Amino acid sequence: MRRDHIRLWTFVLMALGCAGSGFSRQTASPAPRVTSVRELDAPCAKCHNQIYQRYLATPMANASGLAMDGMTPGTHSDTASGIIYRVLEKDGAAWLRYDRPGNQNLHGEQKLDYFMGSGNHARTYLYSINGYWFETPIAYYREKASYDMRPSFQGEKEMPFNLPQNAACIRCHMNGAQAEDPGTRNHYKGLPFLHGGIACEDCHGDASAHVAGGGNGPILNLAKLDSERQVGVCLLCHLEGDVSVEHRGRSIMNYKPGERIADYISYFVRSGTGGTNRGVSQVEGLYLSMCKRTSGAKMSCTTCHDPHYSPTAQERTTFYRDKCLTCHTDAKYATAHFNSTPDCISCHMPKREAPDLAHSVWTDHRIRARPDAAAPAQAPGGAAELISVPGVAPEATPRDVALAYYQLVAAGELSVAERARSLLENVVRSDPGDSDVVAALGFLAYLRGDRQKATVFYESALSLDPNNFNVAIDLGVVLARAGNLQRAADLWSSTFESNEDITELGMNVATAECRLGELKAAADALRRVLIYSPDHRAARLELNAIESGNQTCPPSSDGK
Ligand code: HEC
Ligand code: HEC
Ligand code: HEC
Ligand code: HEC
Ligand code: HEC
Ligand code: HEC
Ligand code: HEC
Repeated sequence: MRRDHIRLWTFVLMALGCAGSGFSRQTASPAPRVTSVRELDAPCAKCHNQIYQRYLATPMANASGLAMDGMTPGTHSDTASGIIYRVLEKDGAAWLRYDRPGNQNLHGEQKLDYFMGSGNHARTYLYSINGYWFETPIAYYREKASYDMRPSFQGEKEMPFNLPQNAACIRCHMNGAQAEDPGTRNHYKGLPFLHGGIACEDCHGDASAHVAGGGNGPILNLAKLDSERQVGVCLLCHLEGDVSVEHRGRSIMNYKPGERIADYISYFVRSGTGGTNRGVSQVEGLYLSMCKRTSGAKMSCTTCHDPHYSPTAQERTTFYRDKCLTCHTDAKYATAHFNSTPDCISCHMPKREAPDLAHSVWTDHRIRARPDAAAPAQAPGGAAELISVPGVAPEATPRDVALAYYQLVAAGELSVAERARSLLENVVRSDPGDSDVVAALGFLAYLRGDRQKATVFYESALSLDPNNFNVAIDLGVVLARAGNLQRAADLWSSTFESNEDITELGMNVATAECRLGELKAAADALRRVLIYSPDHRAARLELNAIESGNQTCPPSSDGK
């Protein structure tokens, strides 16, 4: 799921105009060579054919793939932006076409390479421009049987076109996710992932020795792992929490089945909310249930779910009821309880709308006797209190806790800024070399209006981690506001070289170059912005102005 953070990033305050012009682009995306898990897992079929065949029909095996294999043609007319989106087939490939008639006209098309989402609930598509990977702003929703804007882009007046597709999304939806090129958020030299869908190896680990040994070689036996390691395989992709923080120097991308998730990452949820009503929250829900709390390690995801099989609509009532009855053995449940209505889950695990995932419903895993109709509210009054997800990762370090509060601030929750700062300051005292912590302190200093301290922290964070493009962009903002426009322009320009799809950065470059009198460089940056954000009106206006010789450099957002 996507969660966006506010950043300083924007230096420019652009006047919004209304002139738009027709626009179309030629881009060559690499010929997709990604194959599906059907091929990757084929060697297993020789000896585990039933598992293989059944697994291939599950949503997990079909979580992603080549766009043409998952294409549903359709149209969405978006009222807010006036854009008509069309997903269609042309010359054997899938395309997204977008058109806005009238005086703010916009016309273009984009070849789509992959789909993401089995279509069980929703499906979006991925595409690339010059090696940068993006996700379409529209998705197909099965419950509505039509296309609509992604939830976070409802109401946008301009087409959101450069939604970055980074490894953090890919790792849960595809097999063989690759890391982004260093210093970029979504640029991949090669393929962004290797196989569409989730593969056997995503849960069973590397099986090459097992296959090479004709089935006698070693393979991870998940059933024999302790419960924490066993459930970790599911948590890897089925837990997000309200906030998560990777441990210092560790990346969840390197996790291997059989390891402890808690050795890689800390998950946090807000306390006092009685659980969550987000999507991707089955873990949080289950761990709050009386069933799980009382049964402990005896209960896990696989108590109810067969990882190799998804029951059909006809089977599901009996399938899940049988699981309940393995523990709720009292005869009354099989006979008298509510007139023996067989569908236990319709009363105890109802479906709920997840506010962060429009048009989709999810199953409430809290398994309560009388689930209340209303979704749980925020903790009453006061600022958010973060706790580790009960039962999952109790050992969050003070550093992870501090960065978790900082993430809330970065997401706009300013009321915890002071708390984040004091926690981070304790951490940095014992470990001044932690670039994430230092960068967070830079951001908080800037929020307090302390530019000097912000500069010191950001400079230090950047020297600790020169690939951190977020820090480079933010430092540029601080420098530019302090009047050091040349240094800001240099920093932004060099960062833009490997991140030219970041609109805010391109606009900063253009403004700085314009003010420094470098009109050619400014126009060049604006042209690049328009490749990735073809509907960016401010960029178009500014470019028109420069090209026609009437440019006035836009003021910065603090009026200076
Ligand atoms: C989503 C995770 C996941 C995926 C994907 C997955 N498995 Fe499994 N597999 C498990 C778990 C968990 C167990 C242990 C089940 C238990 O607790 O008994 C298991 C058990 C097994 C077993 C031994 C027990 C049995 O049922 O015979 C075999 C063999 C197996 N898996 C093969 C495969 C093959 C082949 C694939 C790919 C086609 C695959 N698995 C994909 C999670 C997965
Ligand atoms: C040449 C035959 C063969 C191939 C190919 C093969 N397996 Fe197996 N696998 C076996 C045999 C035999 C067993 C032991 C079965 C048993 O004891 O029930 C086994 C057991 C397993 C187990 C359970 C391990 C355990 O300790 O009980 C898993 C998981 C598994 N295989 C996964 C896979 C996956 C994934 C692939 C494909 C990448 C694969 N196997 C390919 C023959 C094979
Ligand atoms: C590599 C990531 C990954 C891992 C590991 C993983 N899942 Fe999934 N799972 C997904 C994704 C992505 C979806 C949604 C697929 C879609 O519909 O697009 C999903 C869907 C599901 C579903 C709903 C669809 C269905 O089959 O009814 C269940 C249940 C599920 N997973 C259970 C598990 C369990 C149990 C485990 C651990 C044994 C597990 N998953 C491990 C990524 C993963
Ligand atoms: C921690 C793993 C994880 C991450 C990270 C993640 N997702 Fe998901 N996503 C899931 C799972 C699991 C589902 C299935 C819904 C569920 O289980 O609640 C899902 C559902 C979806 C769906 C709906 C598909 C369907 O039919 O259920 C889309 C689209 C999607 N994710 C896109 C994204 C994008 C884009 C990103 C990155 C910004 C992202 N996801 C990051 C795990 C993840
Ligand atoms: C691994 C064993 C296990 C499984 C499987 C299981 N439960 Fe439970 N459940 C328990 C235990 C233990 C309790 C604690 C109270 C008790 O002993 O009855 C409990 C409590 C409950 C409660 C009372 C909750 C409350 O807040 O008072 C309900 C309702 C319930 N279970 C329904 C279900 C349903 C429906 C299913 C199947 C979808 C299910 N359980 C599956 C072990 C289990
Ligand atoms: C007590 C039984 C039970 C346990 C334990 C359980 N689930 Fe579920 N799960 C269900 C039921 C019932 C559904 C709804 C299935 C349906 O409607 O077809 C479901 C649905 C799902 C879905 C599909 C999306 C949704 O929310 O409807 C995912 C993903 C999922 N579970 C993941 C997990 C994971 C991960 C775990 C372990 C943390 C887990 N489940 C543990 C019973 C359980
Ligand atoms: C028509 C709705 C409905 C269905 C279907 C249903 N339950 Fe319940 N269940 C309830 C209600 C309501 C309560 C709370 C009873 C109370 O508070 O007296 C309850 C309570 C429970 C409890 C808590 C202990 C108790 O008996 O009060 C368990 C365990 C339970 N149900 C399990 C199940 C299982 C297992 C199934 C499927 C075989 C099931 N329920 C089917 C509505 C239902």
